Amino acid sequence: MSKFKTVFQCQSCGYTSPKWLGKCPDCGSWNSFIEEKEIPKLGRIELVSDKLLPLNQVRQTDEKRKHTKIKELDRVLGGGVVDGAVVLIGGDPGIGKSTLLLQAASNLLDESNFIVNQHSQKKRMALYVSGEESPEQIKLRAERLSITTPDILLFCETSIETIIDAAKKINPAFLIIDSIQTVYSEEITSQAGSVSQIRECASKLMFFAKKTATPVFIIGHVTKEGTIAGPRILEHLVDTVLYFEGDRGNPFRIIRTVKNRFGSTNEIGVFTMTDSGIIEVDNPSELFLSERQSSLSGSTVIATIEGTRPLLVEIQALVCPTNFGVPRRTTIGVDFNRVNLLLAVLEKKASLSLSAMDVFINVVGGLKINEPAADLGIVASLVSSFFEVPIDPRTFYFGEVGLTGEVRAVSMPEQRLQEASKIGFIRAFIPENNRKNLRRNITIDINGLRNIEELVESLKG
Ligand code: TYD
Ligand code: MG
Repeated sequence: MSKFKTVFQCQSCGYTSPKWLGKCPDCGSWNSFIEEKEIPKLGRIELVSDKLLPLNQVRQTDEKRKHTKIKELDRVLGGGVVDGAVVLIGGDPGIGKSTLLLQAASNLLDESNFIVNQHSQKKRMALYVSGEESPEQIKLRAERLSITTPDILLFCETSIETIIDAAKKINPAFLIIDSIQTVYSEEITSQAGSVSQIRECASKLMFFAKKTATPVFIIGHVTKEGTIAGPRILEHLVDTVLYFEGDRGNPFRIIRTVKNRFGSTNEIGVFTMTDSGIIEVDNPSELFLSERQSSLSGSTVIATIEGTRPLLVEIQALVCPTNFGVPRRTTIGVDFNRVNLLLAVLEKKASLSLSAMDVFINVVGGLKINEPAADLGIVASLVSSFFEVPIDPRTFYFGEVGLTGEVRAVSMPEQRLQEASKIGFIRAFIPENNRKNLRRNITIDINGLRNIEELVESLKG
């Protein structure tokens, strides 16, 4: 009889079954079951009385954050790196995860935060574990980034037990694992990258981080389906989850916080990829509008909120007669169904005959917007393209559009207006209910809209 009991586990959601299944009953993926060794469930945790502690007597450790000196990265981390934090950075292969972490590592080491002992002044080093690249390849990248610090130790290894043993000996200032899909635990028979391997390796890293108060950065590649392999399995384990977004053909990179135990979520950091590494962008609104031409029909600027920060972005629409029976609808950067809904509202409430028109919508700069406040801007672009009337380049829009064509108030109107005013916009079209309740005085010509008929009027007139 075999020593271990095996189970079949779905590689995309982690569902287990005693028998092989063609289709996962939980997530619906096909052919995703792989036989793996069963990991015994943890028994009941024995409560030891001296471990029981009244909440108000818990001593707070001095939570001093270490800065990566990349302001945008510090922002998505919630203000810097916390001791013992486990940070997962996910993204498509080749988007710049290794580059960013190498830059961050060199900056973190520059800070004198990591002195082990005040008397000996001995500096702790960083441990960079790579299961993907050779030391020569990493050296090449470091040269490109002009990183010369002697304090980054490279370790090309994939066994998690060896990695953690080494980390315990070296006691690094922080540990980087590039990437979680390449490391494996000797205690599990399945191949590296499978759900149980990823879960096991991540929990070992987590245990190490908490025990030694060492920050650990884990790089995770995103699979074709857009989730980190072993989706959710890592997300609930780690403290912070950051996702790297952007197209490889476009230099803009956005890092989004999906989860953060040490700060707010939904923050974004904006970067550009250059020949000598990733550079943060101080004023993303200017960047997103940098290639904007003046007075073209079908182009509108909207003020959207990403996390806590306002951003001005250009939305383009192209409406043209269809050559086929069924009109085409294509959207990039905004929700497809939302655009269809807005088209239906325009057709019904503003009597625009769009059913024989192809419609294309694009958000410039590769940004993805999923805020309803973009509705008014999308509608304005559509109307502008439909009637071929250009919109003044110093006008911008925000507001939600409802099914009856009403324009509804959105949150944080003051912040949106102020950001636009900073960049030099002079006129705003916003929901009337927002305009009425504005608390601060903003030096912009503000027009309130109640419904989309008023919007169409304002554009045609
Ligand atoms: P990399 O950090 O290796 O991506 P990941 O770890 O997410 O797979 O980045 C790879 C890409 O970035 C590669 O196509 C080259 C490009 N790059 C630059 O444009 N500038 C640079 O300074 C560096 C180091 C890389
Ligand atoms: Mg890499």
